[in-house]
This record gives sequence, structure tokens and C-alpha cells, in this order.
Amino acid sequence: MTDRVRIYEVGPRDGLQNEATPLATDVKRRFVELLVEAGLREIEATSFVAPSAIPALADADDLLPSLPRAPGVRYPVLVPNMPGMARAEAAGADAIAVFTATTDAFTTHNIRMTVEESLAAFAPVLARAGKLGWWRRGYVSTAFGCPYTGAVAPGRAVEVALSLLELGVEEVCFGDTIGVGVPAQVDELTARAVDAGIPLGKIAYHFHDTRGTALANVAAGLRAGVRCFDAATGGTGGCPYAPGAAGNLATEDLVYLLDASGYEHGVDLAKVLVAARFVAEALGKPLATKVGQAGGWDPATGEPVGR
Ligand code: COA
Ligand code: ZN
Repeated sequence: MTDRVRIYEVGPRDGLQNEATPLATDVKRRFVELLVEAGLREIEATSFVAPSAIPALADADDLLPSLPRAPGVRYPVLVPNMPGMARAEAAGADAIAVFTATTDAFTTHNIRMTVEESLAAFAPVLARAGKLGWWRRGYVSTAFGCPYTGAVAPGRAVEVALSLLELGVEEVCFGDTIGVGVPAQVDELTARAVDAGIPLGKIAYHFHDTRGTALANVAAGLRAGVRCFDAATGGTGGCPYAPGAAGNLATEDLVYLLDASGYEHGVDLAKVLVAARFVAEALGKPLATKVGQAGGWDPATGEPVGR
């Protein structure tokens, strides 16, 4: 099993979509530039969704073409339907993510479709993207629990993942959208997915640190052989109605864990912290992540890193 881990940065998309303070397009571009400088190579940049649904990302058509096209850097964008696909094409996208969930209650709220309807809406999107040779990811949100219906059986998350794979995605990402999962559930879901024939190399996890379980869940995923994890620099993505609430797993916290555990990932912690401070300042909030506050740690000297 490889010691190489892919860190899939979701700060500019998942991190910013929910923040109360909308950022100007050039501030977002600078944030992405700092992420690229830190070594991140997969950066989910924005969403081509209805601007009325996510006003904070309504500038996607201007932002995406303005991003630095460094070799080996991929900017997946969220696309829910064919109008979104047309916008993504016009803006020069070459990687997309479609997003559904385990429950009709959640998808109806989020994208106004049942799970079944969402899969039908994604079919032409994924077919078109496949024809264009784009990289394609499918999210299974609410993989462990739904805010409207409660607990979710792992078999249900696997069932939705299999449907997405049938539609052609290269990777499925199980999202703990509301941050309720614990390591034993990660063990079980991973085992069920593998039993159902999904290769470990096609599985990613997306944890939110809402209840402080995100890094423990990453550790469980790593032990099970998963090698792709989502994170948001600065730990953005908290609910705008719950000040101080933890959002996405912070990239800096993930990088610290991976470095200290001997995994390779190509991301520089000190430079991630520069980007984390930049986005926190832009949002007008203190940087509340663990490693953002403590810095990393250099075992050669005992000194903090990146503070
Ligand atoms: N890009 C831009 N505009 C879009 C669009 C897209 N991808 N999809 C739909 N629209 C517009 C339509 O043109 C229409 O505009 P109008 O009112 O001016 O005529 C309006 O949005 C409603 O379109 P409709 O097809 O009826 O969509 P809907 O109201 O059923 O909403 C989604 C469905 C998927 C478009 C919407 O719920 C959405 O974008 N959700 C995204 C939510 C999200 O990103 N959540 C976070 C990610 S987990
Ligand atoms: Zn998320």
C-alpha cells in the first residue's frame, strides 16, 4: 500500500460557499494562488450552481478562467445540471464534481431533486464531461447522517456510490456533511464499499470537524487504505448562523497529521498556514484551527513551524 496521500482542497468551494462574508473575486484568486504555492494540486475552485442557491460563488464564470494554470494542478468545479455544465465549459473547466446524498430529504433541500432525480440529472452532465476527457468525481453527502432524517445505514451510502460509478465518475467521495461520524463508522463504510467492489483508489472521504471527530476519522480511513481526503485551508465552512462552529477539516491539521505519520503529499505546512491566515483575515475572523494556533512542530529543534 502506498504512503502517498492526495489532499483534495475544498476551501475555495465548500469553505466559502457558506461564509457570511462574501469575498471579492480577486481575493478568492489570491487565496487559490497561495494554495497552489503551498503545493496543493487538487483545488475545488467554485460551483456552477444557481447563483440564487449559493450567492457567495456567483462569480464562478469570472473566477475560474482567472486562476493560475500551473502544470499538474486541477480545479474541479461543482456542477448540478446541464446549464451548469454549459457554464463550466465556457469558463474552461476540465474537472467536475457532481453531488448527491443518501436521503431524498437532504437532496430535496439542497438541489430540489430526489436522489434518483439527481442521478438522472447527472447522467448527461457526466456523459458530456466524459466525452470532453474531464476528470469526474461524485459526492455522496450525508454518508453517516442526515440533518432531516437522522442515522444513515452504510449500505445506503454504498448504493448511491455504486450508482455514481455506473455513471462514469473516477472517484466517489463520502461526505460527513454535518460532522456526526466516528472512526468505527468509517471502518464499516470502507469495508462495505470494498466488499461491493469499489476499489480503495476510487474512494475519498470528506469530513467536517463539527464535533471534533474529523482527524480521528481520517486516521481510520488511512488504516483502512483510503488515500484521498478533503480539507479546507483555514477550516472554513462553519455555519453562518453558529459563530465559531467548526467547519471543514482544516488542511493545516490534516497536513500536520500526515507529516508526523510519515505520509507523502507534497504540501508545505508553513505555506498552508500563510494561506490560512490570508483567508481568515479576508473573512474577518481569527484563525481558529488547532495547527493554525499552535503551528506545526519541528522534531529536529522542538520549535513550532509556520507561526
Ligand atoms: N447555473 C446558473 N443558473 C442556474 C443553474 C446553473 N447551474 N441551474 C438552474 N439555474 C437557474 C435557472 O435558469 C432558473 O433561473 P430563473 O429563475 O432566472 O429562470 C433558476 O436557477 C431555477 O432553475 P431550476 O432548474 O428550476 O432549478 P431549481 O430551482 O430546481 O434548483 C438547482 C436546482 C440544482 C439548480 C439549485 O438547487 C442549486 O443550484 N443548488 C446548489 C446547492 C449547492 O451548491 N449546495 C452546496 C453544495 S453541497
Ligand atoms: Zn463539506
